[in-house]
Amino acid sequence: MAGVTKMQLLLFQLVLTSFVFLDSVDNVNAGITSSYLRKEYPAVDMPVDHEVFAAPKGYNAPQQVHMTQGNYDGNAVIISWVTVDEPGLSKLQYGTSDKKYKFTAQGKMTNYTFYEYKSGYIHHVLVDGLKFDTKYYYKIGNGDSAREFWFRTPPMIGPDVPYKFGIIGDLGQTFNSLSTLEHYMESGAECVLFLGDFSYADEYEYNDVGLRWDTFGRFAERSMAYQPWIWIIGNHEIDYLPYMNEVTLFKTYFQRYPTPHLASKSSSPDFYSVRRASAHIIALSSYSPFVKYTPQYIWLSEELERVDRTKTPWLFVLLHSPMYSSYKTHFMEGEGMRVVFEEWFVKHKVDVVFSGHVHAYERSHRFSNIRYNVSSGERYPAPDESAPIYITVGDGGNLEGLADTLIEPQPDYSAFREPSYGHSTLEIMNRTHALYTWHRNDEGKKVPVESFVLHNQYWKSKVQKRKLGKQNLGVLQQSASKGKKMT
Ligand SMILES: *[C@@H]1O[C@H](CO)[C@@H](O)[C@H](O)[C@H]1NC(C)=O
Ligand SMILES: *[C@@H]1O[C@H](CO)[C@@H](O)[C@H](O)[C@H]1NC(C)=O
Ligand SMILES: *[C@@H]1O[C@H](CO)[C@@H](O)[C@H](O)[C@H]1NC(C)=O
Ligand SMILES: [Fe+2]
Repeated sequence: MAGVTKMQLLLFQLVLTSFVFLDSVDNVNAGITSSYLRKEYPAVDMPVDHEVFAAPKGYNAPQQVHMTQGNYDGNAVIISWVTVDEPGLSKLQYGTSDKKYKFTAQGKMTNYTFYEYKSGYIHHVLVDGLKFDTKYYYKIGNGDSAREFWFRTPPMIGPDVPYKFGIIGDLGQTFNSLSTLEHYMESGAECVLFLGDFSYADEYEYNDVGLRWDTFGRFAERSMAYQPWIWIIGNHEIDYLPYMNEVTLFKTYFQRYPTPHLASKSSSPDFYSVRRASAHIIALSSYSPFVKYTPQYIWLSEELERVDRTKTPWLFVLLHSPMYSSYKTHFMEGEGMRVVFEEWFVKHKVDVVFSGHVHAYERSHRFSNIRYNVSSGERYPAPDESAPIYITVGDGGNLEGLADTLIEPQPDYSAFREPSYGHSTLEIMNRTHALYTWHRNDEGKKVPVESFVLHNQYWKSKVQKRKLGKQNLGVLQQSASKGKKMT
């Protein structure tokens, strides 16, 4: 197989298994609505005594272990866990070989009440000064109850650093959530871009809200203890529940899921950015002020200027409520933010805006609606090569079930849509090429449904200028056009 690149092999495997296949998303085709129909599969939370929620054995054993990136460039992590019997120590031992922990990091403990629920002792430890591209082992807890995990730091940032991300949204804690997480963990991706709406605990009442944050933490640990999840706020993190006298916004989220916001000069954990491998990732809050003069607006305008596509060619934005969606559920809820930020996303050639919120999958064509103002008469989004692709991956599998009412006819901006559960992967190859795939949970099976080569928005034009031309995928392109209508 000399001369066959890793990407060509991957593409070939996908052709064998998938129905919709596009060689690239540059050509504007009519939108596709998948004809796949899911059989009945209940959207109910797993019972609290399900094994995925089991607490680790031992007095005061650390549980709900999770981690996120700890600084701007990825050679730090923030590791968090909960102890329930007593505060214990916010101490973490780590090193580069198994069972030999040369270093110790010290963090801090916090706890909170929610209605009459009292949280466990929540520990957060920043582990920094790490080597890039290195496997670390770590140990938390005491004596027989101590637990050991590992994680891998990303390579140092650079324009052609390959890296594989997973994308998950609206996860919850149902049997479908479990499928999504298991499928994701088979992918070999090294970091999750998590699009908000974690536990759906706010759908419970009184003390069960706190308890369901705990079950979610124990469930998600299988992935979150071993690799960073880069998270944003969803509406289920708002925590505005006046009937219980709980009105502090994002109370539980801020206690449990820290972000490295100071590293990107943000004044608030609601919005921040990180750089990882060859990507610059901007994490926004749909539920914090964002109009002109607010902190998020000012910070984003400055952060976009700090993006250096020669160091991190890939620019992704994460925000919960999609700007382009063609499902009736939550329709136009992202419109306020679109009016304020869309022009910047086009100007700065954002590659992809990933959103959740709508419990389904959808991908847009490159469209924008930035000529619109209330007096211009330019009312419709139009094809725009500088615009990002908008992808909704709100299909993690939470207890609310699927959004399955579609706007008809399918709007021009919508390229492909399917109400199913699933997750995406994005494998960056170099500064110009990345392989994107959406995987459906097909009644428990993992099925790659659509996949394409994503061309970098910034480097695409540079490469074309150098007359390198487009990659010719030959036979793959033919299978793509044959497979465009799903069977
Ligand atoms: C936090 O834990 C300490 C020690 O158990 C306890 O005294 C305090 O009341 C707790 N605070 C909250 C807000 O639950
Ligand atoms: C509104 O849009 C129209 C058409 O693009 C443009 O001519 C006009 O200047 C805009 N109005 C304002 C106040 O920017
Ligand atoms: C990136 O990888 C693709 C696929 O392997 C290749 O065709 C392309 O030339 C590479 N681009 C650069 C800038 O190396
Ligand atoms: Fe949501």
